[in-house]
Order: sequence, then C-alpha cells, then structure tokens
Amino acid sequence: MSDRHRLSLAPIDTPERLLLGPGPSNAHPTVLEALSRSPIGHLDPLYVALMGEVQELLRYTWQTDNRLTLPMSGTGSAAMEATIANVVEPGDTVLVAVKGYFGLRLQDMAGRYRANVQTIEKPWGEAFSLEEIEAGLKQHKPKVLAIVHAETSTGVCQPMEGIGDLCRQHDCLLLLDTVTSLGAVPLFLDEWKVDLAYSCSQKGLSCPPGLGPFSMGPRAEDKLMARSGKVPNWYLDVSLLNQYWGSDRVYHHTAPVNMNFGMREALRLIAEEGLENVWARHRRNAERLWNGLERLGLALHVPSELRLPTLTTVRIPEDVDGKAFTLHLLNKHGIEVGGGLGALAGKVWRIGLMGYNSREDNVDLLLNLLEEELPAFRSSASAVAAAVA
Ligand SMILES: Cc1ncc(COP(=O)(O)O)c(C=O)c1O
Repeated sequence: MSDRHRLSLAPIDTPERLLLGPGPSNAHPTVLEALSRSPIGHLDPLYVALMGEVQELLRYTWQTDNRLTLPMSGTGSAAMEATIANVVEPGDTVLVAVKGYFGLRLQDMAGRYRANVQTIEKPWGEAFSLEEIEAGLKQHKPKVLAIVHAETSTGVCQPMEGIGDLCRQHDCLLLLDTVTSLGAVPLFLDEWKVDLAYSCSQKGLSCPPGLGPFSMGPRAEDKLMARSGKVPNWYLDVSLLNQYWGSDRVYHHTAPVNMNFGMREALRLIAEEGLENVWARHRRNAERLWNGLERLGLALHVPSELRLPTLTTVRIPEDVDGKAFTLHLLNKHGIEVGGGLGALAGKVWRIGLMGYNSREDNVDLLLNLLEEELPAFRSSASAVAAAVA
C-alpha cells in the first residue's frame, strides 16, 4: 500500500478570526447553527417549501418582484457568469463600465461568451456620472450595460438613479453587480429598473461563501426566450434551473441543501431586523469608522459622497509597511483586514464592515489597535528603535 492510504490527520481545528476584510465576513451564529443541521432530500416537500421562502426573502432583500430570483449553487462569480451566459449571444455588444477589479472580471466573462465587448472607464476610486453613461450608450449602442454597484476593490458606491431609465431609452438591458451591497446598502432593483443582478452569500448576508443570489427581470427573460441557440452553459441555464425552482420541481442538480438552510436563516434575520434598519446600521457603523480613521490622521481613498458603507479603502501611510501591519493584526489579534487589488495593490487597506460584523464594538476594537499599534510600524519608529538598540 502506498503512503497515501495511511494519511492520518487531527480533526479540523480552525482559529476564531474576526473578518474585517473584503469578504468573507463572519457568519451569524444562528446561520452557523442552521448550516449544521442534518441534510434533507432536495426534493423533500419540506425543502421545496424552504426554497420558496428563500426566493421570497431574496425578493424582499433586493426589493424586486422578479419571478426568476434564486440562489445559484456557487459563489458570486457563478451568479455573475449566469447573468451573462443567459442573455448574451455571440456578437451582442456588451458595454462594461469599468472602475475597478470586478468591472474587469465582467469584461473578461462577456468576452468568453463571444460578446462584442466595449468599455468605458474611470479611475479606481471614482464613479460614473449619468452623462458619461449616456455618452457610452450613444456611442456603442449595446444590448447590455454591465456595471458594479459596490466596487469592493475601490470602496466606491455607484449612484444608480437614472441609469435604468437611460438603458430603457437606449433599448439596452441593465446588469448590476450587487455582491457588496445586498443586505447592507440601499438597493432597489425594480425602482432602479435593473434587469439582471447577482450577489453572494458571504458579505452583507452573514452566511459563508457558497451561494450566488441571482435575479432576472421580464425584459431579460424576453431576451433569454428569444435566443437563437441554447444557453452555452448547462449548469447556469436559468430556463433549466427554473424547472426545479419553479412549479415543476424537476431535478437539475443536487442542491446544496445546507447552504440553503443557512441562506434562509441569514435572510430571515435581515427581515426580522427590517431592511431599512439594516441599511441604517451599516451606514452608522461605517461613519463611526470613517470619523475615527480621520481622527487618527489616516486618509480615506474615496470622497465621502461616494463611500461604500460595507468597504472602506484607507491609504497606507507612506512610511508604513502595509503588509507587515495586516500580518500583525492577523497573527497577534486574529483580525483580517484586506490589502489592495489591481491598481490599488500596496496602496490601500480594505476594511469591511458587512452583515453580522457591522457593529460598533468591531469598529472601536480596530480603531484602538490602529491608534496603539500602528505607530510601531512606521519606518521612523523602526529607525528610532534600531538607533536605540
Ligand atoms: C464586487 C464583486 N463582484 C464579484 C465578486 C465575486 O464573488 P465570489 O468571490 O463570491 O465569486 C466579488 C468578490 O468579492 C466582488 O466583490
């Protein structure tokens, strides 16, 4: 027998971490309890009833009446890919408004489905104006405009008022990434005339990663029905998935039933607190963080009117080794804070206050650590320490 068959490991023993980075965020304790229940069959009438509850709660959290609203089995990127795979046909023009890392991912995905991909771009830390969106629609005449509501790479919240109306005037679908806004930041799919949206389970919803909420409105459904060929992705084909999630209950794939137990509990908690209270809590705690950071003399990367309550980008002071400080937070205090991505790599820290973690005690804990322990990471401090030694 080879050694492979004698592998013996201790039972899993992961440390407690406080996840104040770009995600995942900590799951709510009752969500963890829901996840640990014994699985039931994915066609069990009890599970089928739970699926309906998850869909209804998702519609509430997204403020939509869209019939085709369901959690994709997969992370946010699976739901992202589902929005594109279902409506984009080869040669369709897709206009991607890129202002950060996840806009670039949308651009990449649309190209893989053989769209004619066009972009408009803004520096990382800014948002698009209505005039800039309108100019892009006039120039490129796309079938789909794809844009990120809450750019996790920059901490910018894209103002949405008026974009849906422009898309209707230009006969184009509006596709919105709400991965870092669902269940945390004001979001109105129907009022904003959003035709396709996706999100994730691991941020504002206080659930572990594993599900990707997806929603498709009637205009996008019409485009799906009018396709000349099959959706080129079997797993994410909403017309097939709806035979399971809709009234027919036909087997498609074995649902990750425990993840949906967790999702139901996560969404139930949001409904119990009330969506507006949830949004207000995220805003209040983010403002507490922003004020505290500025009091400590740290600069925020995004102007206050565009700041995202769920994700704050803080400029790393020039005399600080940003990576060394985040490693110290993780190793000494079990706290995760993120580094920068793409154009902002090495330039910012990313602090997340999402879902269950958006709490005053977490803000105060992090601010205290920054106040007391960051000075030792300044190069002037190490020069002094070296000189004294
Ligand atoms: C804005 C945005 N879009 C898409 C994704 C992809 O989601 P996932 O990593 O869950 O696949 C992320 C992940 O952080 C994100 O922040």
